[in-house]
Amino acid sequence: MYLRAFCVVVMFGMICPQDETDIIESTTIDPTPEICKVCECADGMLDCTNRQLTQSFTLEEWNQLKSLNIKEVNLSGNSIEMLTVIAELPIEKLNVSQNRLEMIDDWCFKYLENLSTLDLSRNELEDLNKRAFWGLLLPDSKIRPLSKMRYLSLAHNDLHVIPKDAFAFMHNLRYLDLSRNPLGILDQVATGTLTELPFLRELVLSGCGLETLPDGLFRSLRRLERLDISSNKFTTIPAALNSAITINYLNFDKNPITNLTEKTSLSTLIRLRELRLCNTRLQTIGPGALGGLASLETLYICNNPRLTTIDEEFLNWKDDDGTDLWPALKRLYLHNNNVSEIDPDFLFRWDQITDASFHDNPYVCDCKNQWMVDVLVPLITKINGSAADMICTKPQEIRGMSFYQLFENSKTLECPQAAETAVLPGSETAIVLGVIIGVFAAFPLVFVIVLLWRRGYFAKCRKKMSSDQDSDEEHAAL
Ligand SMILES: *[C@@H]1O[C@H](CO)[C@@H](O)[C@H](O)[C@H]1NC(C)=O
Ligand SMILES: *[C@@H]1O[C@H](CO)[C@@H](O)[C@H](O)[C@H]1NC(C)=O
Ligand SMILES: *[C@@H]1O[C@H](CO)[C@@H](O)[C@H](O)[C@H]1NC(C)=O
Ligand SMILES: *[C@@H]1O[C@H](CO)[C@@H](O)[C@H](O)[C@H]1NC(C)=O
Ligand SMILES: *[C@@H]1O[C@H](CO)[C@@H](O)[C@H](O)[C@H]1NC(C)=O
Ligand SMILES: *[C@@H]1O[C@H](CO)[C@@H](O)[C@H](O)[C@H]1NC(C)=O
Repeated sequence: MYLRAFCVVVMFGMICPQDETDIIESTTIDPTPEICKVCECADGMLDCTNRQLTQSFTLEEWNQLKSLNIKEVNLSGNSIEMLTVIAELPIEKLNVSQNRLEMIDDWCFKYLENLSTLDLSRNELEDLNKRAFWGLLLPDSKIRPLSKMRYLSLAHNDLHVIPKDAFAFMHNLRYLDLSRNPLGILDQVATGTLTELPFLRELVLSGCGLETLPDGLFRSLRRLERLDISSNKFTTIPAALNSAITINYLNFDKNPITNLTEKTSLSTLIRLRELRLCNTRLQTIGPGALGGLASLETLYICNNPRLTTIDEEFLNWKDDDGTDLWPALKRLYLHNNNVSEIDPDFLFRWDQITDASFHDNPYVCDCKNQWMVDVLVPLITKINGSAADMICTKPQEIRGMSFYQLFENSKTLECPQAAETAVLPGSETAIVLGVIIGVFAAFPLVFVIVLLWRRGYFAKCRKKMSSDQDSDEEHAAL
């Protein structure tokens, strides 16, 4: 009979015993646990995915798994509505995502002292009872923390509030995903609960209906590295970010921000290496709007259909001596906006770029963008990017041509007629240029100088980083 039980286990993918010793060892295990008749128990893993379960298992059923040394339990893709207390097992990873969970028992995981990953995403949780994540109550009425817990996802549920002390006994959490819950606002209680996680490295608050972030949120999250606040309702950069100084990744995609015209709390994020600002309602990015991001390497500003103006100094800031500074960008993605040009002054060192995309913008192919043909296209080609999908929409004669074609044909782009330029509606630069031309028309010499200055991307007269002479040379060599 023991042998039979063993052979059932064998059916589930174990290799058949080859000698006596194997059989003797195996006969010491219990008869097949009930759970393993429904699910697959093999290699320290309990796979119960997509088994049409409507209930979680009883303590007794869990207890039958004791001898199996189960480290990973996957219950995802069932219809379990209520999660009940799980027996003392060496489980490290528990996945209950994609069920219909409405309830999690108090102290549900208290016996799982080795639990490190808990995925409760894509369920129907509306309320969390705060004791759901508490540890075992010890005889001295202290609570044993779930000190191995690192990863907790509650994403895609229906949570409106985060109760006080909900994570008090998971204080070692590194990763917390609360995305796609209708939180609406992070009140004092929620803020208090989140700030109890001093080791948190990554916080995902995407799609939570947030309009603001509470001031104190990041002050005690001193190890936070990655923050995702995309798909919320922010119309400005939240001021609370100015204390998120440890983060190196910020996702601000899909927020209805219209305007980045001045210095924001972003400028304090001196460790930020990657910033995402895609699918927003941005119209204008002004001078210095993203200044101060001294560590920035990767910048996404894409799919912003109304983004028409990116100031040439948008990434630029000054240090205490008044020296101009730029971040050393390696990756720049500016595709699918509404900009008519890529300005050579966006970056100080274009030669450091290793990946970039500029396609799907309505480029105006006049003399101002000659540098794009002569400098940018070779650069893009060198890094295996494509200049064939950077298309001219103006002027009419070369409409539809790509910058790659312009480069191939060594095309010299015409300057628009002064009069024509001056009447372009809504184009401030054009008006300014028109005025300048008007005023100086009587002084041909001055006019020529001004024109040269405006066109002169290769011989800049602007102040440079004085300490950076070799890079000056390289820049000039470009
Ligand atoms: C659960 O099962 C799914 C599908 O088999 C798999 O993709 C996923 O990685 C598993 N998760 C865990 C925690 O084992
Ligand atoms: C947790 O892991 C340790 C070390 O591997 C082990 O001794 C202990 O029995 C495990 N706890 C449970 C509840 O299985
Ligand atoms: C849990 O399972 C789901 C679906 O099978 C999978 O997508 C997810 O990555 C798993 N979670 C973890 C933490 O492995
Ligand atoms: C941008 O912000 C400034 C300052 O808050 C405001 O005066 C201006 O109207 C805004 N522009 C747009 C297009 O929203
Ligand atoms: C795109 O820019 C042009 C001017 O360059 C402007 O006329 C147009 O309204 C802009 N489109 C949107 C959607 O903002
Ligand atoms: C570009 O592609 C070529 C051929 O696929 C490859 O050898 C080269 O390393 C790539 N260069 C870069 C900068 O990715």
